[in-house]
This record gives sequence, C-alpha cells and structure tokens, in this order.
Amino acid sequence: MGRLIQASLPAHPGLTLAAAHGRDPGDFAGCDVVIDVAVASATDDLLARLDGAALVTGVTGRDAAQQAAIHAYAERAPVLVAANFSVGVAVLRALARQAARALGPAFQAEIFEIHHRHKADAPSGTALALGAAVAEGAGLPWPDAAATARAGRRGDAEIGLSAARGGDVVGEHTVFFLGPAERLELTHRATDRAVFAHGALRAAAWIAGRASGIYGVDAWLDDALRATAWPSASGV
Ligand SMILES: NC(=O)c1ccc[n+]([C@@H]2O[C@H](COP(=O)([O-])OP(=O)(O)OC[C@H]3O[C@@H](n4cnc5c(N)ncnc54)[C@H](OP(=O)(O)O)[C@@H]3O)[C@@H](O)[C@H]2O)c1
Repeated sequence: MGRLIQASLPAHPGLTLAAAHGRDPGDFAGCDVVIDVAVASATDDLLARLDGAALVTGVTGRDAAQQAAIHAYAERAPVLVAANFSVGVAVLRALARQAARALGPAFQAEIFEIHHRHKADAPSGTALALGAAVAEGAGLPWPDAAATARAGRRGDAEIGLSAARGGDVVGEHTVFFLGPAERLELTHRATDRAVFAHGALRAAAWIAGRASGIYGVDAWLDDALRATAWPSASGV
C-alpha cells in the first residue's frame, strides 16, 4: 500500500511527498500529514515518530491498548481512522445499517469476506465495521453480538462474521440478510488496490489543518461528497 500510495501521488497535485518510512529509523518531522499503512504492532513506534503531524491510519486489527494510544495522540493532532478508504464500502455500511433496521429480527445477518492470502487480520476491519453498522440498525449490542468463531448452532441475536483467505483477492465483502423464503445480499468488490491508495490521499488532503480529535470515515466522506463530485470518472 505504501508503494501504491507513492505511485498514485501525481494524481493529487495538492500533495507533496516529504518522507516515506518503513522499519528504518527515520521520522516524520516537518510533515503536515502522515498516512499509516504499516501494521498494528508498529503503532507505538509510529506515534513516537509523528512530531504532532495529522494522521490518517488505514491499519486494522489494533488491540485495545494500541487503539488507546491512537486516541491519546488524537488529543494533540487530528487523526482519521479508516478501516477502508473506498467510497463504495462507506455506502455499503450505510445500506447495511438501513437494511438491518428495515428487515427486523425475522432476518438473520451474516457477513462474509474474502482477501488475499497475506492479509494479517481476520475478520477484516471492514467486516467488523459492517457488523457494527448492522448491529446499530438491528438494535443489537456490539461487539457482543459478533460471532467470529462459530462452532455449532447459530444463536438468535448474533451477527456471524466469516473470512476466506487465498490468492490475490483485493477485498470482497457481502452482508447477507437471511429471512423466511427470501434473502438480501449486499456485496462490495474491490478490483484494484489503487482505490484504497487514492482514498488515502484524499483523506490526507482532507484532514490537514483540522482540529485535534478522532475522525471517522463517515465525517470525511460526508464532507468530501458534499464538497465535490467524488470519485471523478477517472476514479481519483
Ligand atoms: N484502510 C484501507 O482501505 C486499507 C486498504 C488496504 C490495506 N490496509 C491496511 O494497510 C496495511 C498494509 O497493508 P499491505 O497490504 O500493504 O501490507 P504489507 O504489504 O504487509 O505492508 C505492510 C508494511 O508495513 C511494514 N512494517 C511492518 N512492521 C513494521 C514496523 N514495525 N515499522 C514500520 N513498518 C513496518 C512492512 O515492512 P516490511 O516489508 O519490512 O515487512 C510493510 O512495508 C494493513 O494494516 C492493511 O490492513 C488498509
């Protein structure tokens, strides 16, 4: 993702690359915004290098302590946490929330996702975000309703999440609503990881100069979609 974001940069003339770091000891002094697409275990190391820069983090799978560290940093800088940088997934979340509310308890919600064989976390952060949206619409407690490792019979008030891993699948998520004699399936398929790279760069441009605090994808996309016709025909 880091290399892809660099390759996508020329399509975003308002942004300039000031630094790019992985495991090397370099820091981000002087950067206005840092885009984080490393790994959850690098969270403390990342925060130590930030020097007050705004942060866009697309990393998923953070544990409670790592999430707390991100929130603590947000007390002194703006931080956008985005499990998925695609506009299609943002719309899917809204649709899933609405469907759960409209269909009611006669329909059971299940979320299925597929990713490439190298993905570190399962279920994906996007699947968890979809689960939270369904739970909100259905009036179920989250994350208590999440069934990520089902064995045996389904419970009444649960939202199942299952994951397949293999090959080079960019990312696919389906939310099933399984009811009596009918079912609804809402699916998003990402076909090119460039969609995430352009989304990350748009997010970086958006968060620069904002007030300190944690921002979610909804705040960003609501604002971006209101301000511009995005994505453009070229996908940028
Ligand atoms: N929000 C979104 O839309 C979105 C979309 C795609 C991916 N992602 C997330 O972005 C992240 C990267 O995905 P990817 O597919 O590009 O994975 P990847 O190919 O495994 O890249 C991870 C990178 O992090 C580096 N890294 C590992 N440990 C590090 C450390 N301690 N300090 C600094 N850098 C470290 C790795 O370096 P080495 O090569 O040296 O191991 C590698 O360059 C994942 O967390 C993924 O979930 C988010």
